Amino acid sequence: MPAEQTTAAAGDTPGNGSRADSTAAREALNQVDHRPGSAKPDPIVVADNVTRQFGGLTAVDVEHVEIQRGVITALIGPNGAGKTTFFNVLTGFDKPQSGTWSFNGRPLSGVPAYQVARMGMVRTFQLTKVLAKLHVVENMRLGATGQSGERFLSALLQRWGGQERQITDKADKLLERFLLDKKRNDFAGSLSGGQRKLLEMARALMADPELVMLDEPMAGVNPALKQSLLGHVKSLRDEGRTVLFVEHDMDMVRDISDWVIVMAQGTIVAEGPPDSVMANKSVIDAYLGSHHDQDLSEDVEEEIIAAAEAEIAGTTKTEERK
Ligand SMILES: Nc1ncnc2c1ncn2[C@@H]1O[C@H](COP(=O)(O)OP(=O)(O)OP(=O)(O)O)[C@@H](O)[C@H]1O
Ligand SMILES: [Mg+2]
Repeated sequence: MPAEQTTAAAGDTPGNGSRADSTAAREALNQVDHRPGSAKPDPIVVADNVTRQFGGLTAVDVEHVEIQRGVITALIGPNGAGKTTFFNVLTGFDKPQSGTWSFNGRPLSGVPAYQVARMGMVRTFQLTKVLAKLHVVENMRLGATGQSGERFLSALLQRWGGQERQITDKADKLLERFLLDKKRNDFAGSLSGGQRKLLEMARALMADPELVMLDEPMAGVNPALKQSLLGHVKSLRDEGRTVLFVEHDMDMVRDISDWVIVMAQGTIVAEGPPDSVMANKSVIDAYLGSHHDQDLSEDVEEEIIAAAEAEIAGTTKTEERK
């Protein structure tokens, strides 16, 4: 079946009608240099000199980065590299010590998160933020005003107005698309980890974002649901949205990303298409630290396995008693 047929569901095009041509956007990446901070032909986000310190620790120190419109970009890097902090800053959930950044050419410094969302830049969270004591459909409705949990009461009050039905219809179409329609009236707290990830992604679409930012969409998701999530992420791109996602699952990164940006210790250390980035020695070093070349030798591996088996059999204790 052609991809278009699977992705045109629910009339979910980006809100301002500026649907990007994802094939052209991807082809345009062929011209881009494989180096940190490289200029993109059609950037949707541009950030300069963004620094975020926590006490003496510099979590983010990004000199320059551009995110190409209409493609899937993966932001990878070891634990503590600053990926989530950078997401927080870009989306107005955190304030940096310095820097400027823009979305569609509009400066975002000082713009609060709910306004960033209304402008068309919506993110999900590494630890899902579904509201457990609200029903699934109510979580969806809240997405219509912007970020989850933002201006919660006013969002609910507005919902009692005339737009109610329209918003509910949209929520139901998205729940159907994400195969959550049967869970519509369940408490979000009763969903599995993977279903919560799906709900967060579906809720993000309530705001008709042009840019969807996903922080570890695969974490804690079982393999069957992973396939479904992968399909959903690709469909976001294929319907003209831009996707920026953080992920540790390298199979996923290789499978779906058009471009990869690597962060280590707060800075951008590499950029390029997935295959070239993942073959880059400095990336392997940054990602796996100094241990990547210390694969266990067969002897050591056998020793460890023997010790583990012995412990299971209780022989270790017998030895100790002697
Ligand atoms: N609120 C905070 N207060 C103090 N330090 C923080 C805070 N948030 C993040 N950090 C520190 O900033 C650094 C970057 O953290 P961040 O969560 O952005 O990393 P990450 O790349 O998302 O890691 P992971 O892959 O584990 O999610 C880490 O050293 C972290 O401990
Ligand atoms: Mg993180």
